[in-house]
Amino acid sequence: MYRYAAVVLSLALGIAFQLSHGTEVNVTDKDNNLCLYANLMVNFSVSYDTTDNKSATTEFELPETVTSDGSKCDTTSSLLKINFGEGHSWSVNFTVNGKMYQTDTITFSYNLGDTKFFPKASTNETTNVYVKPHITDVGMDTCYSCKSKEVLEADSVNQTLWNVLIQAFVSNNITSENITSCAADVPTTPVAPTTHATSTAAPITNATSTVPTTTTTPTPPLPTPTTGKYNFKPNENSTVCLMAYFGLRVAYKQAEMNFDPNGTTISGSCGDNTSELVVVSTKMTIMLTFVHDTKKFRLHALNITGKTSAGVTFSEANTNLSLWEAAVGSSYMCNKEQSYNITSQLTIDTFDLQVQPFGVKNGVFSTAEDCQGDARESFLVPIAVGVALLVLILIVLMAYFIGRKRNMATGYESF
Ligand SMILES: *[C@@H]1O[C@H](CO)[C@@H](O)[C@H](O)[C@H]1NC(C)=O
Ligand SMILES: *[C@@H]1O[C@H](CO)[C@@H](O)[C@H](O)[C@H]1NC(C)=O
Ligand SMILES: *[C@@H]1O[C@H](CO)[C@@H](O)[C@H](O)[C@H]1NC(C)=O
Ligand SMILES: *[C@@H]1O[C@H](CO)[C@@H](O)[C@H](O)[C@H]1NC(C)=O
Ligand SMILES: *[C@@H]1O[C@H](CO)[C@@H](O)[C@H](O)[C@H]1NC(C)=O
Ligand SMILES: *[C@@H]1O[C@H](CO)[C@@H](O)[C@H](O)[C@H]1NC(C)=O
Ligand SMILES: *[C@@H]1O[C@H](CO)[C@@H](O)[C@H](O)[C@H]1NC(C)=O
Ligand SMILES: *[C@@H]1O[C@H](CO)[C@@H](O)[C@H](O)[C@H]1NC(C)=O
Ligand SMILES: *[C@@H]1O[C@H](CO)[C@@H](O)[C@H](O)[C@H]1NC(C)=O
Ligand SMILES: *[C@@H]1O[C@H](CO)[C@@H](O)[C@H](O)[C@H]1NC(C)=O
Ligand SMILES: *[C@@H]1O[C@H](CO)[C@@H](O)[C@H](O)[C@H]1NC(C)=O
Repeated sequence: MYRYAAVVLSLALGIAFQLSHGTEVNVTDKDNNLCLYANLMVNFSVSYDTTDNKSATTEFELPETVTSDGSKCDTTSSLLKINFGEGHSWSVNFTVNGKMYQTDTITFSYNLGDTKFFPKASTNETTNVYVKPHITDVGMDTCYSCKSKEVLEADSVNQTLWNVLIQAFVSNNITSENITSCAADVPTTPVAPTTHATSTAAPITNATSTVPTTTTTPTPPLPTPTTGKYNFKPNENSTVCLMAYFGLRVAYKQAEMNFDPNGTTISGSCGDNTSELVVVSTKMTIMLTFVHDTKKFRLHALNITGKTSAGVTFSEANTNLSLWEAAVGSSYMCNKEQSYNITSQLTIDTFDLQVQPFGVKNGVFSTAEDCQGDARESFLVPIAVGVALLVLILIVLMAYFIGRKRNMATGYESF
């Protein structure tokens, strides 16, 4: 009860204050009504590069003294932004989905220039990591509660969240007493979490059938992969002869992975009628072979070797493809997501794709041939024709009315 009283008393926008434990934040809307409440604990573990070419790992907690500048509430989406220390922030957005709300992405932004947290860091940069938390299907007008620990892993950051109590879209200026608990907090028997008294009664069914089926944790949907820019030149004095920009998601059997362009090495070859690009990341090696016969080029072979996050190694290749076709001297482009079955086990999804394996001039893409799905001309042409017709009609009408007015005016004068 004390907490709710405290909430009502703390209405100033952008001000957060601390309770004895956890980091508490109250966000108010433009009418000064509480619209977002959070009380949570977060531990961060961050690995970073130091000036002496080593990798260091630092651990720190989300402090109790924070600000919530930059947080905002809307009717269907809200943002909680917790700022702390020297330019660090932790933010999470909420969206309404029918009678539920959910979080989309947590963005943790840390300033490597902060020597307190990151002694001897090799750069000053602020780095962002994005993770998807499992906070979904929270009933409107209820608090999300998760006392259990949840570890969210991103590239070089692990975030441990616990004792989380959050309510977005608060109505009537007060947090709800009704709670939506996370799965980890709910006792193994899938009965109502509030009925503790009945949980002591032994289930009547036999043991094998009551084994909790929590072993298969649902994997959250992957974020859109980062677009990588891969330019190949045969040696340092020559010009770029092959360009490929794309975001890539690889699915081997059931395992989906985003290809991370950070820290990749590029090699390849540029030939008269065959060009090859090899991109190597820590987790995967991708070989793309392009050919051109007569006037068109295409992706002819793709070979991906790697390891899934479960540790399964794979090597899948198709050397008989005809993808990404465009005229030699131009580039092939496809911004929308596209899926390709490469082998029976391997599928790739591309995002923001643009490639030019032959005839690159001055290190830039030549005119692009769009994939059909992007073809904006198909509807731009009728729109342009329509607009032109409309303008024509307006001109004719104006001419008519001006002429009429003139005639009438001269009519009155001559009268
Ligand atoms: C969080 O970090 C603090 C200090 O580094 C540590 O004492 C505590 O055990 C950590 N908690 C969890 C859940 O990792
Ligand atoms: C994050 O957790 C994983 C698994 O426990 C561990 O292998 C990795 O080193 C951790 N990373 C950091 C930055 O602490
Ligand atoms: C750090 O690594 C870079 C390239 O990897 C190298 O040129 C440099 O000499 C190294 N510095 C130290 C102090 O080891
Ligand atoms: C950090 O930034 C300052 C000024 O912005 C610069 O003078 C300094 O060299 C930078 N340090 C590192 C390690 O990059
Ligand atoms: C909690 O939920 C019940 C049933 O859904 C509802 O009657 C009650 O008003 C709710 N309490 C609050 C404080 O929202
Ligand atoms: C448990 O259930 C299975 C199938 O539901 C049944 O075959 C088995 O005989 C049961 N065992 C006991 C001890 O009741
Ligand atoms: C690049 O050009 C410089 C100067 O012309 C030359 O010394 C060097 O050997 C060349 N490097 C390669 C890889 O051709
Ligand atoms: C890759 O590195 C850049 C800057 O170093 C960073 O902004 C970006 O978030 C990183 N991408 C991923 C997927 O980690
Ligand atoms: C490849 O190029 C060579 C010479 O440029 C040509 O003779 C040959 O027919 C080409 N091959 C194909 C498959 O187009
Ligand atoms: C694909 O690449 C791997 C690793 O380089 C190689 O062992 C394998 O033979 C290649 N597969 C094909 C069909 O070229
Ligand atoms: C390559 O694909 C074409 C058409 O998709 C097919 O006719 C041909 O048999 C395939 N060749 C091989 C070696 O699989």
